Amino acid sequence: MTEISSMRVFVTRRIPAAGLDRIVAACRAEIWDGPLPPPRDVLLEKVAGCHGIVTLLTETVDARLMDAAGPQLRVISNFAVGYNNIDIAEATRRGIRVGNTPDVLTEATADMAFALLISAARRIVEGQRYVLDGHWKTWEPLGHIGQDLSGKTIGIVGMGRIGFALARRCFGGWQMRVLYHDRQPCEQADRELAARQVDFETLLAESDFVSVHTDLNDATRGMFDATAFARMKSSAVFVNTARGSIHNQRDLHDALRDGRIFAAGLDVTDPEPPDADDPLLRLPNCIVAPHIASATVSSRSGMAEIAADNLLAGLRGDTLRCRVHD
Ligand code: GLV
Repeated sequence: MTEISSMRVFVTRRIPAAGLDRIVAACRAEIWDGPLPPPRDVLLEKVAGCHGIVTLLTETVDARLMDAAGPQLRVISNFAVGYNNIDIAEATRRGIRVGNTPDVLTEATADMAFALLISAARRIVEGQRYVLDGHWKTWEPLGHIGQDLSGKTIGIVGMGRIGFALARRCFGGWQMRVLYHDRQPCEQADRELAARQVDFETLLAESDFVSVHTDLNDATRGMFDATAFARMKSSAVFVNTARGSIHNQRDLHDALRDGRIFAAGLDVTDPEPPDADDPLLRLPNCIVAPHIASATVSSRSGMAEIAADNLLAGLRGDTLRCRVHD
C-alpha cells in the first residue's frame, strides 16, 4: 500500500469532522481556517508541493493552479457534487484524479427546491416581511393570492438524481404532471412518474413550475434568458438550485418585475453572493437563499466522508469512490 502519511494536502475550508478528522490523521494536511475562501494568490502559494487538494466550488481549479501545485499533484477532491469550478480536461490530461460528492445531498437539495417552489408560489417570504413591517391589519380576501400546486405541471430541466427526486415529490405528493428536458431519456421517470421528455420550448410553454437541475456547461450557461422567460406562463414559478449562471440574472429580474412570470426561488445567483445593490434582491416576488441546498447534518457529513475517501484513494493511487470523468 502506498505510504501517504508524509504527503501534503491543502484543504481550502474547514469541512465536517466526519471527513476532516480522517484527512488530518492520514496525511500532512493544512486547513484554511478562514470564513472566506483563501485569496487566489494565497491559494496558489498554499498548494505548492501538495499531492492532494480539497476544494470547494468557490475555488477555480485551472491549469495555473495545477502548475502552482506542481507535477506531484495526484488528486483534487471537490467538496460538492458540481464541478464546474474545475478544468476537468486539464486535470485528465495531467493524470490528476478528480472526485465529487454526489448522492448524499440529493434529497436535501430536492427538499430545498420544493421549499423554494412552494414558498415562492404561496408568497411566504413576502408575507413574513409584511408581518414584520407592521402591515398586517386584518384578514384580506383579496390579499396575498398565490398559485396552487396540486395537479399542476412541473417542468424539470436536467432529469438527473436531484431532478428526479423533486419530480417524485411533485408527482407523489401533489399529483403534478411531470415534463422534463434532458439530452437523455429517463426511463425510471417515464415509468414511475408518468413523465414526458419534451423539448425546451414545450417545457417552458406548458409548465406551471420550472426547476433547474442541470449542470453548468457551455450549453446551459444563460439558457434562461429573456426569450426563455417570455415563453413561460405569466403564472409560472422559476426555481434554480443548480448554478446561478444558468439564468441571466438581469433578464430574470426584468421578467419578475414586469410580471412576465409570477415568482422565482433561487438558491444560486450570478455572482455569488449577488451585489448588494442587485435590484433582484428588492423584488417581492423573488426569494434568494445563500446556496444552502445541501446544508443538512447528514448531507454535509456525507459529503465530507466522500471527499475524504476520494482524497485518500487519490493519494494512494487507487480508484476514487466518486470520480468525475472528462
Ligand atoms: C453545491 O452546489 C454542490 O454542487 O454540491
